[in-house]
Amino acid sequence: FADDGYRLWLKYDRLADATVRSGYARSTQFIAVSGSSPVLTAATSELQLGLQGLLGPTVPTLARAGTRQGGIVLTVGVSGADANGLNEEGYRIVKRQGNIVVMGKTDVGVLYGTFALLRQVQTGQPLDNINLVSSPKVKLRMLNHWDNPNGTIERGYAGGSLWKWSELPETIDPRYKDYARANASLGINGTVVNNVNASPRLLTGEYLQKVAALADVMRPYGIKVYLSVYFAAPKTLGGLKTSDPLDPQVRKWWADKTAEIHRYIPDFGGFLVKANSEGEPGPQDYGRTHVDGANMLAAAMKPFSGVVIWRAFVYKADPTGDRFKAAYEEFTPFDGQFDPKVIVQVKNGPIDFQPREPFSPLFGAMPKTPLGIEFQLTQEYLGFATHLVYEAPLFKECLESDTYAAGKGSTVARVVDGSLHGYRNAGPTQTLMAGVANTGSDRNWTGHPLAQANWYAFGRIAWDHTLTSAAIADEWIKMTLTRQPQAVSHVRAMLLRSRDIYVDYNAPLGLSRPWTGVHFAPEPWQNKSPRPDWTAVYYHRADSIGLGFDRTATGSNALAQYRPDVRRQWENVDNCPLPYLLWFHHVPWTKQLATGRTLWDELCTRFYTGADSVRWLQQEWALAKPAIDPALYTDVVGRLATQHREAIWWRDAWVLYLQEFAKKPIPKPFKQPE
Ligand code: GCU
Repeated sequence: FADDGYRLWLKYDRLADATVRSGYARSTQFIAVSGSSPVLTAATSELQLGLQGLLGPTVPTLARAGTRQGGIVLTVGVSGADANGLNEEGYRIVKRQGNIVVMGKTDVGVLYGTFALLRQVQTGQPLDNINLVSSPKVKLRMLNHWDNPNGTIERGYAGGSLWKWSELPETIDPRYKDYARANASLGINGTVVNNVNASPRLLTGEYLQKVAALADVMRPYGIKVYLSVYFAAPKTLGGLKTSDPLDPQVRKWWADKTAEIHRYIPDFGGFLVKANSEGEPGPQDYGRTHVDGANMLAAAMKPFSGVVIWRAFVYKADPTGDRFKAAYEEFTPFDGQFDPKVIVQVKNGPIDFQPREPFSPLFGAMPKTPLGIEFQLTQEYLGFATHLVYEAPLFKECLESDTYAAGKGSTVARVVDGSLHGYRNAGPTQTLMAGVANTGSDRNWTGHPLAQANWYAFGRIAWDHTLTSAAIADEWIKMTLTRQPQAVSHVRAMLLRSRDIYVDYNAPLGLSRPWTGVHFAPEPWQNKSPRPDWTAVYYHRADSIGLGFDRTATGSNALAQYRPDVRRQWENVDNCPLPYLLWFHHVPWTKQLATGRTLWDELCTRFYTGADSVRWLQQEWALAKPAIDPALYTDVVGRLATQHREAIWWRDAWVLYLQEFAKKPIPKPFKQPE
């Protein structure tokens, strides 16, 4: 069969080199596992599946190793020195008494350890003196699915929903288990199964049974199920006159509903809430606040272990305001007032998953509130499922940004993993990274075969944000595409440069472009919408003088939301780093930039070289061809061709539009679009 991409990075194809195979086989002759919890059983069968696929022989299981050597021992409940550096989900893998011992405090730790062990074999690492210790830095590592009950996915580009609601709960698509395996292999331990623009239907008994069936599949893989909730459900579902969070009947309705959910799903993860945002109902509809709303749900959740994840993605239709500032203005006054069960989930940037954004000023500004981070894996603004954009550098760029909240080194990652503020008042499970899933019913899960790397990278970074983009790319390529060194380096180069190439032809120098509609058509001229902040001109502010949004003290002063050290990096138009220039400044067309070119010439240079670099992506891919599955190779060739055509389309639309304001010729050697 051609490789259809279904098996993701868990392909477990036979290693080509017989000597290498027999080397690994000698130290993996059996699996000794005492205990039979569903999680340990899942770990054991994954090891058997993986080792047999990679190496050939079937690997038997034993209750204990006894005096036998040359096998794998799975051990739950480590203590003493072995437990050093391990949290509840961590693992340690060591060579001991001739065996490879995979240990954890819990069976989930062992499950993660088995995937780590398989990864060693898949990526060609030696097992002889194996000594690995790893614990996740963030406690809730989850995917957010924007899936609707009718099977569509908001901003989904890889087919329909994975969840076959009409067949559930009786029919369990085997794919659910493969989804769980893929997530568990990365350490993802939560999934919000429905869209943040939530349908109240998910809270009906009919749907809760279906969700419970999914939870049953996820449980052996350490994954909890969460629901996005519709804030006005007490009215629409419960028949109450109001959904006011301070109304006793409303509070009782949510308490009863939460208890009912737990009868279906005893280990239910919790609620995700989009409230008073983009037309969704919320506490403000009743004159109440985000705190009133979130704490009401937290009270309903009190008897249970679940959490309430309250999104900070809010902004108002204010023509004189700056959307950039909205979330900070609305949320910072509430710092310290949220119930300990509440986590506030903040998008990486202040606007909306743009190709490049500065980090959200909320990070570091709410020291008494656990802030989770939300990235978008689905490529709403990054070329859907046709453009190649490897997102690890985007995640890392944000996580490594310094908020200076407690002096130098106060990175966004340290806010999110809790090490900066300690979150002392918070409950035990309050650190969070979420990724808006890019999965769908396409056979290869993500539409673009190489977009699987974004799911992979998100999971790995949520586990350990210190991993580098290059190291993650290497792992993914070797596990998924090829281990042939030349090909690995061509594909790695493509992945690592892809995001900057995209930014250059799509939104260079800090241009942003969120506007209403399909979110993937160049319409910089768009100026009509029911809301001013849903037009293009609101964001880029092109005029006869220049381009960009003045967010300094002479403009919206959004920069004042950052600490002085951050502000200083960006507030001066003469030394603001070019990737952020137009985020913060309205820059004259004729202004000389650090590159020696004027703004206009620099913009043209970026648009043209960006679009042209797609050819370089094509060349690199062609060089990797001999080592890549032919069907997969051809699929990507097609997508790169589309990407090239569309990159030119973006370039030309922007350049021709901006030229009307700049009134300058296109610099040599670039050609005027036809
Ligand atoms: C973006 C996206 C919407 C989504 C929203 C959100 O605006 O276009 O489809 O609902 O983000 O994150 O809530």
